[in-house]
Amino acid sequence: MSLSIKQLNGFFNLATLTRPNGELLSSGLSLLRREEINGILVQNIFSTSEASTLTNRLEQEEIPFVKTWFPQAFHAWFLGRNLNLESEDLTSYFQQVPTHEGHLADLFRGNLDLQSRLFSVLADLDGHVPFRAAPGPTADQRYMVTTLRAHKQSGFIPIHCDNEQAIRPSFLHLRSVISPPILSFVLCLQPPLSGGELEIFARRADGIPMAVEKESERMRVELADAPSVKFSLSAGELIIINSGKYYHQLLPVEGNRKRWTVCSFFARSSDDKSNYCWG
Ligand SMILES: [Fe+2]
Repeated sequence: MSLSIKQLNGFFNLATLTRPNGELLSSGLSLLRREEINGILVQNIFSTSEASTLTNRLEQEEIPFVKTWFPQAFHAWFLGRNLNLESEDLTSYFQQVPTHEGHLADLFRGNLDLQSRLFSVLADLDGHVPFRAAPGPTADQRYMVTTLRAHKQSGFIPIHCDNEQAIRPSFLHLRSVISPPILSFVLCLQPPLSGGELEIFARRADGIPMAVEKESERMRVELADAPSVKFSLSAGELIIINSGKYYHQLLPVEGNRKRWTVCSFFARSSDDKSNYCWG
């Protein structure tokens, strides 16, 4: 894997890696946690044609994923259930996890499986510490390891920081098994025709976690002149950022092609032996 580190817009240190040949940055996620770098871009997790195969399966609704909605104004939905949108009672959420896992296995069938394409790459970027679904409150329960996201025309996510999860009742148990910081990844399966960039600001969220629905407008004004970087991910590209500490947003999708991504949050387990993911 070939590797380069570049500084973007005077603040954002980005490590770019290209699969499948070349060196892995096995300290990559440690550098990200220590904020010595601010993002890792891994190209060619899927080839363009593989990503297109996956997108076709999604567009044809070949697999009966549970569909859940972002707030209506965002023009977007999940395949699977996003923990941010759940209530404190996760009974039905955990009941649906095995079915969701079956759907993920079906979507990424054959040699496109997420374990070898995605989670093993993430583990390699973290000194081979494994990635797996965060365990639930009982021995047979797990969180959804990831969800898919579709943003249609005008779809967006306003400015927020993923530390907001700390204040949501649905995270009560998860908080007890992870060790911050919370990082996240976005794996792009289909970019929109234009727009839909991931924008990350040169501003840390060091204060009290904020709820996106209450604070995004205030932050939009506050960050109007802050430096930022914008990423237009290509099909098959993966980006990993410190989304629990840095404000970010998804700019509006333009055109009538959906933006399809696979996204999860993750953190080290409390015992530091694993990385726990949730979608
Ligand atoms: Fe986020």
